[in-house]
Amino acid sequence: MSLIEQIKLLTDKQLPKHIAIIMDGNGRWAKSQGLERVHGHQQGVLSVRSTIEGAGEAGIRFLTLYAFSTENWNRPKFEIDALIALLVQTIHLEKENLMKNRVRLQTIGDIASLPAHCQEQLSQITRDTRDNTGLTVILALSYSGRWELAHALKNMIRDINEGTLCPEQISQEKIPHYLCTRDMPDPDILIRTGGDYRISNFLLWQIAYTELFFVPAMWPDFRKEHLWNIILDFSKRQRRFGKTGEQVEHEI
Ligand code: FPP
Repeated sequence: MSLIEQIKLLTDKQLPKHIAIIMDGNGRWAKSQGLERVHGHQQGVLSVRSTIEGAGEAGIRFLTLYAFSTENWNRPKFEIDALIALLVQTIHLEKENLMKNRVRLQTIGDIASLPAHCQEQLSQITRDTRDNTGLTVILALSYSGRWELAHALKNMIRDINEGTLCPEQISQEKIPHYLCTRDMPDPDILIRTGGDYRISNFLLWQIAYTELFFVPAMWPDFRKEHLWNIILDFSKRQRRFGKTGEQVEHEI
């Protein structure tokens, strides 16, 4: 049976709703081919396309891609410019495909720190795809978990000062309402490509109970089949959320 046929047999509980990916290894992939780092990012776009297609075909609801971190601003200017240009170009070229596949595109991160033309294009594509009912793709741009938590804290203090939030109301259930991810479930799966075992400041609050997958493939080599294998592996894991295995086995 093919990978996708196996996925189609999974129950609702076995199928992840939200997958997050740290797309790492573009630079090393390029170097291994004797190319400039930027070529790795360009090749990485093919992996983005294949992964979005694969997630849609598998019936995943949310796919979050770590495309540019707060710390990536420290890279050489020409690489930052090339990454932003690639993002703008890719959104322009992929728009028809996104609409055809009913993909809804959203962003998380400090979007105001991106160049104006990039911000405009992101808000346009977000508006244009808003009513699509298929997979939601969330691009994390100028994002980091610590930035997000600081941003949330600032907004909570603002609401306390304005009298719309009492300190007593602050709880584990309340805090997610102040995060960029307030409208989506926590990731069930976090994938990092490129062979390293790090979280790199990604979704720090949200991954408390996420299943982690570290894969050796560099991002430009990652394809939907890698994603499908991970989904099938995930479906066999027992998620206990602090309970005992016996308790979980007896849950309906
Ligand atoms: C990390 O690899 C990758 C990035 C910082 C950028 C990711 C961007 C893309 C995949 C292309 C554009 C994306 C979209 C959504 C259109 P690295 O450069 O850190 O690789 P290295 O660890 O080998 O140096």
